[in-house]
Amino acid sequence: MRLKTLSFTRISLITMLMCSQVAFAQQADGPALRSDNIDEVLNAMTTEEKCALLVGGAGIVPDVPNVAGYTRTIPRLGIPMTALSDGPAGLRIDPTREGTSQTFYCTGFPIGTLIASSWDPAMVEVMTQAMGSEVLEYGVDVLLAPGMNIHRNPLCGRNFEYLSEDPLLSGRIAAAYVRGVQSKGVGCSVKHFAANNQETNRLENDARISERALREIYLKNFEIAVKEGRPWTVMSSYNKLNGEYTQQSHRLLTTILRDDWGFDGLVMTDWGCKDSTVKSAKAGNDLMMPGFQRERDRLMAAVESGELTQAELDRNVRRVLEYIVKTPHYRKYPYSNQPDLKAHAQVARKAAEESIVLLRNEHGTLPLKGGEKVALYGINSVDFLGVGTGSGFVHMAHVANMQEALTTAGFSLDEDLANYYRHCYALQQDKERMEASSTDKRHRSEPEVSVKAIERQAKANDVAIIVLGRIAGEGADRVVHDDFELTAIERELIQNVSLVYHKADKRVVVVLNIVGVVETASWKGLVDAIILPWTPGQEGAHAVADIIKGKVNPSGKLPMTFPVNYMDSPSAGNFPYRWDMSGRRGTRRNVDFTEYEEGIWVGYRHFQTRGVEVSYPFGYGLSYTTFDYGQPKVKANQEGFTATITVTNTGKVPGREVVELYVSAPSGGLEKPDRELKAFAKTKTLMPGESETLTLTVTTYEMASFNESTAAWETAAGTYKLLFGASATDIRRTVSFKMKKAIGF
Ligand code: GLC
Repeated sequence: MRLKTLSFTRISLITMLMCSQVAFAQQADGPALRSDNIDEVLNAMTTEEKCALLVGGAGIVPDVPNVAGYTRTIPRLGIPMTALSDGPAGLRIDPTREGTSQTFYCTGFPIGTLIASSWDPAMVEVMTQAMGSEVLEYGVDVLLAPGMNIHRNPLCGRNFEYLSEDPLLSGRIAAAYVRGVQSKGVGCSVKHFAANNQETNRLENDARISERALREIYLKNFEIAVKEGRPWTVMSSYNKLNGEYTQQSHRLLTTILRDDWGFDGLVMTDWGCKDSTVKSAKAGNDLMMPGFQRERDRLMAAVESGELTQAELDRNVRRVLEYIVKTPHYRKYPYSNQPDLKAHAQVARKAAEESIVLLRNEHGTLPLKGGEKVALYGINSVDFLGVGTGSGFVHMAHVANMQEALTTAGFSLDEDLANYYRHCYALQQDKERMEASSTDKRHRSEPEVSVKAIERQAKANDVAIIVLGRIAGEGADRVVHDDFELTAIERELIQNVSLVYHKADKRVVVVLNIVGVVETASWKGLVDAIILPWTPGQEGAHAVADIIKGKVNPSGKLPMTFPVNYMDSPSAGNFPYRWDMSGRRGTRRNVDFTEYEEGIWVGYRHFQTRGVEVSYPFGYGLSYTTFDYGQPKVKANQEGFTATITVTNTGKVPGREVVELYVSAPSGGLEKPDRELKAFAKTKTLMPGESETLTLTVTTYEMASFNESTAAWETAAGTYKLLFGASATDIRRTVSFKMKKAIGF
């Protein structure tokens, strides 16, 4: 504990806290914990010590103030505290501490949705290695990430932390995320297990899901992440699943997670306290976070009464001890509190460059030549959003905005216009300070720009760039009006700028600095180019500027569908439009319970199979170059198939291409989507004329569908069509093979 630098109050608080750490003897008078004597330590523990270890704490860990939570120490057995903290876009700890002028800012990396847009697990693993070393050097043991609930609906307030509407893409990116972080000797916590797909009434909402949809969609990504990432921990979710809190579901936490999938780590709750602690412990939820005295009391009483058997108690305690011996705190790692933030900033920038999606680029508008005079519109050109809010937020020392990024990239801004937006932003900040309220949870109010002014700016500048922003975070879902849909002022700005600039034969570029899907169909035809960086971390604005300048050729692709209208979403009718808590508790549809009536028909599985037009399809993204897909070859057997396909850069600039392999299963038997993503691969950077042969392997288990009547996975016999696509709708090559006989799992 670093007492010298802490103020008296902190010291007394910490001392009090340590003493309140269940009054365990301080001197070692039992076996000191090692990775090879866990059973011996377990046998030496009192019941009180065991129950204490199953309940965490929140707040001040002596040497890392204000982490999200910690596990308790038992000094006499050499059991240290361990520190757990958020979040998916980077470590979230307080940036300042009493008693020292040193700061503890963390790197704001691209959000989950953006790194999923890279379709590049190898890149994600490199990015999260940097994230893991930051967690290590700041003295934290577990990063409470990745968030990976399926994008069931565009309005979920935490979609920015999550990855995709498709379980394979989500699972593969999450597994790479875990491997990268954990390669640095710290842990991850894949969350929120499971079916936490809305924020409205998240603590109590009952997600009612068919077994097939659960297995094929909402659990499948966690299954992949657990099997291919091997996370140290899993965080159960707040909500219920088919009437039972997930943290209390033995079927979910033991039968499926451990017995079926082979998970051998620790399960912790999300940060709340349900009444039936004992049911959670019995179900296999090992650690109660953030942890309350009443939970320890309940466990003690349950052991006393036999409701919680000694075997169940010891099973959970053993898993906590097996976790502790892996941690840097246990290893007494001499963390520096000096992570290489400069290097990590560059890693964050590179990750954004590899992930940003180019949605539209008419008349070769982008890349610009460089040096152009730019009229930069939109309040978020100044208040450029690096990450979302809530536990997914990161305390960053600086978030680059589009004004500085375009200037750094060598463009010259219309200074009057830039000043105007800086002034409006400052006024809004003053107002927020005075009202001590933050802006509308969803977006800043967009300042008006008169047509006269736009006409003047169109004369004085070469190109217009409009930045539109959306913000959201845990605890609330988004809404349709003025959130999913553009506001009137945003619409007017796009219309007026497009009209005036096109009259002057000049181009208009839109940058979507957003945390979730927005409506695009009604206005995208008005503008020449659209770039989607989502909220790309602290350096993301520079990545956007480098794409605009052509220094980077965009290679991101959408990890979810952009519908034409919100109501086209398959879950539109079964999602809370707004936080409507009226009505009798327990009876409120989409608040107390949410019917996943769409079943497996999530995202492109719905839109593609039912022929519903979309604004931008799953897997869509443009490049500054073009690619040819050669004739694929496939070798299949009863284990699965391996396909190879050669991709050639047929354009004029270097670039990378994501090849998406969809499988169309034989008809008959279970009703299936007309195509499902079963593999994908991203080329290296191909020079003009250069080719690369990609190999994509899929097992027969990965091809299987879940049959509810037999409660088993099955891969039907018949002819399978392999669709090699640049998106879910842009299929370039197909090849088929026959599975001679059905296989069950
Ligand atoms: C929050 C979030 C979870 C986070 C935890 C600790 O309620 O649901 O994602 O990791 O609390 O901050």
